[in-house]
Amino acid sequence: MKVLVTGGTGFIGSNLVNKLVELDYQVEVIDNNLSDAGKINKKANYHQYDLSDVNNLNQVSRILNSVDSVFHLAAKARVQPSIDDPVGYELNNTLSTVNILKACVDSDVRRFVYSSSSSVYGDNDNMPLKENFKPNPLSPYGAQKYYGEILCNTFAEVYDIETVSLRYFNVYGEGQNIGGAYSLVIGIFFDQMLSGKPLTIRGDGTQKRDFTYVGDVVNANILASESHMVGSGEVLNIGNGDNRTINQIADLFDVKKEYIEPVLEPKETLADIKLAKDLLNWEPTTSVDSWIKQQIIDYEKK
Ligand SMILES: NC(=O)c1ccc[n+]([C@@H]2O[C@H](COP(=O)([O-])OP(=O)(O)OC[C@H]3O[C@@H](n4cnc5c(N)ncnc54)[C@H](O)[C@@H]3O)[C@@H](O)[C@H]2O)c1
Repeated sequence: MKVLVTGGTGFIGSNLVNKLVELDYQVEVIDNNLSDAGKINKKANYHQYDLSDVNNLNQVSRILNSVDSVFHLAAKARVQPSIDDPVGYELNNTLSTVNILKACVDSDVRRFVYSSSSSVYGDNDNMPLKENFKPNPLSPYGAQKYYGEILCNTFAEVYDIETVSLRYFNVYGEGQNIGGAYSLVIGIFFDQMLSGKPLTIRGDGTQKRDFTYVGDVVNANILASESHMVGSGEVLNIGNGDNRTINQIADLFDVKKEYIEPVLEPKETLADIKLAKDLLNWEPTTSVDSWIKQQIIDYEKK
């Protein structure tokens, strides 16, 4: 079966491409950045296009010829930079999503799986977070991810296409950025540990996050492309269903900690994952503690 992954040279996208290739799917990839050779799978077909540019849609539609399902991961994918550049994020994220949805309709794609984010929830006192809670994004990025969900729902209502949105909670795992502007907390901690620096913690470190393994996110995507129980614009949490404080994560590294200025961020995230379990028959498999401990052992062996 032929599928398309947008953002397929990114962290989660490259893991998804590898798994789809392993499962014998014919995989097309669209990404506007093909520069990281480590993220290219020789058995997939890569196309370099900016999806936010409507002038590229004819070429994109050609790639979509006889594609069954599209996994839409392409986005500027970080919370804090979207606060500095809300317009750049808006033009990229919102236009990419409506453009690829339109191209999918024109090319008779059956199913569209959208990568949304727990940042749609913002701050909430009620835990665990359920899909029917009122969204309250605390960043332009979160607002854009929410609008993408609305677009997916609208397209399923108006056009002949099945859509489903997956709200990922703090994804970590193989291929994550280590260091640099785009890394997330676990990647930053690895970078700091490896360069002998203290681990920097924003605020007091009591903020809690539901950390989700990238392999589990990949499996959720594949199940969402196949399940007969979804396709009408549903929104499903994809999290581990438990959480840790940033201090607890830092303690796994056994390195000195340094507390730095806080940023505007939710106090806690914790996914209610009943819907994904029921509708996708999906189950998370990996705990963040054991994954980090194993990575530290592997680094020490090198
Ligand atoms: N990593 C997480 O913890 C997390 C959490 C929630 C949601 N998500 C969502 O999952 C998806 C993948 O995230 P990631 O962590 O792999 O990010 P990433 O930055 O590693 O990958 C995103 C990819 O999209 C590509 N891209 C961006 N804009 C594009 C455009 N206009 N046209 C074509 N390609 C474009 C980038 O070049 C990159 O390869 C994103 O949609 C993100 O919002 C990620």
